[in-house]
Amino acid sequence: MHESPYWDPYRVDITQNPYPFFKRLREEAPLYYNEEYDFYAVSRYDDVKRGLSEHQTFISSRGGILELMRAGVEIPKGVFIFEDPPLHTVHRGIVARMFTPRRINGLEEQIRALTRRTLDRLVGREEIDFIADVGAVIPMAVIGMLLGIPEEDQQRVRQITDARMRTKEAGKPLDYSSGFQLAMGFEEYLDWRAEHPSDDVMTELLNVEFTDEQGVRRKLTREELVTFCNVLAGAGNETTNRLIGWTAKVLAEHPDQRRLLLEQPELIPDAIEEVLRFEPPAPHVGRWIARDTEFQGQRVPAGKPLMCLVGAANRDEEKFPDGERFDIRRERRVPHLTFGTGIHTCIGNVLARMEGRIVLEELLARFPEWEVDLERARLIQTSTVRGWETLPAWVGKGPRRSVHPAPNPAEETAGTEGDAPPSHIAGAWRIVVQGPTGPMPTTLRLVDRDGALMGEQSGEGGTSPVEGASYDPATGEIRWQNRIERPMRLTAHFSGTVRGGRMAGEVKVGFIGKFPFTGERLEEGA
Ligand code: HEM
Repeated sequence: MHESPYWDPYRVDITQNPYPFFKRLREEAPLYYNEEYDFYAVSRYDDVKRGLSEHQTFISSRGGILELMRAGVEIPKGVFIFEDPPLHTVHRGIVARMFTPRRINGLEEQIRALTRRTLDRLVGREEIDFIADVGAVIPMAVIGMLLGIPEEDQQRVRQITDARMRTKEAGKPLDYSSGFQLAMGFEEYLDWRAEHPSDDVMTELLNVEFTDEQGVRRKLTREELVTFCNVLAGAGNETTNRLIGWTAKVLAEHPDQRRLLLEQPELIPDAIEEVLRFEPPAPHVGRWIARDTEFQGQRVPAGKPLMCLVGAANRDEEKFPDGERFDIRRERRVPHLTFGTGIHTCIGNVLARMEGRIVLEELLARFPEWEVDLERARLIQTSTVRGWETLPAWVGKGPRRSVHPAPNPAEETAGTEGDAPPSHIAGAWRIVVQGPTGPMPTTLRLVDRDGALMGEQSGEGGTSPVEGASYDPATGEIRWQNRIERPMRLTAHFSGTVRGGRMAGEVKVGFIGKFPFTGERLEEGA
């Protein structure tokens, strides 16, 4: 029997290569209904475009992520990617000040200098990781530039936040380990900037007067500003990181086209456009169907999620002939939908394109060729973003040999000294959950009180005590749970396996869903 096409955003075999599934949906079920998760999906270009742009029928305020929409989670005010007019119009209007062509073009030199510094450090190495060494570094620093945090201030703010951290109650430090956003702390920066006004975006935003949705003329609250910063970091960091990964991966697989870019660097913007079409970092965007409508001549009822399959639309043969082929010289008759369309069109699209272009230009200038090591690369999909979490690549000139040989599975099961379960688990661990909106770093502190494990876990959502913790040194199995207060009260159940100084597993967060996490030991404790 001919099985009907199937798609959901969670199945790992689909995520690995969703394109054959997308093709079948376009051809056999252009209006698709998934019974298991009770949502609709559209895959043809015109339908996806309509889903994204008819904002009164397909609304954003239930959240653009399937599990958020299904759970009916309340979205904090100011997260305007998940808002509808009139609130969305007000909030987007304020943030749009940061994205004027003058401001964005003004960043080009700074981004280039940052990229050069970042890549120069890699020259001479035989192997690099496109994510750890490039993708995880540049987009986050660019958000800092966008918010107008000058480099000399970054140092000063770091000193202030470090000093504040030292005065904090013992055992309750902020998590400073995961890069720029947390290292700077938007809250701290805003407070500091309020006391030290200057000619920058933040000072402007602190002083801006606007008319809110209730017609009241006022300034932004500190909380609103922090939310905006986090929305920008959340929407612009992970996605651009994945764009960098896809650029490296796809060009490594098309060396002829990469060579062409060396000969004709003016084609680099076209190459970025084609990578965006071919491997969109956000392959599906969700909406809530607010009133009865139709797709493909069939009735679609209000009150269900609609998944707009951008990754499928971008390869619709009707609009992109030979759409499954990567071709930087393709004639672009219609735009891809990678940045969405309509009132929610990605506000950072010019910036993301610029970052992609600069990174590729500077990359080719230093490493004309590279070969990715797909055996050791890891692809992840959160509920919003699909891309490489690690992408090791051989950039050496001589014949390829792996600098860090791939782990031997036989050896792993036998357990060498380095990867055996540790005898004690107490200490500080950096735990990163791959949550629905991207990686969520936290610090887990465990103490052993006469065989009973206790402690706390702190991250952006605050600090909460760890409950029901257990660890078995014979197997390396660990379990614990804690309570999350924001965006709502939920219990998170962690379970995983510890090997050496690392752990990995899964966290079940209330009814929202299950997410993978990884952990790394920061320090040993008693
Ligand atoms: C390759 C990189 C990027 C991709 C693929 C991407 C993708 C998207 C998509 C598909 C949307 C529309 C969501 C919807 O219709 O519900 C969106 C919106 C948004 N993006 Fe991006 N984005 C990228 C980079 C950035 C950057 C660099 C920033 C900022 C620094 C940013 C900030 C935003 C914001 C604030 C919104 C919400 C706009 C609104 O709701 O009005 N994005 N992005």
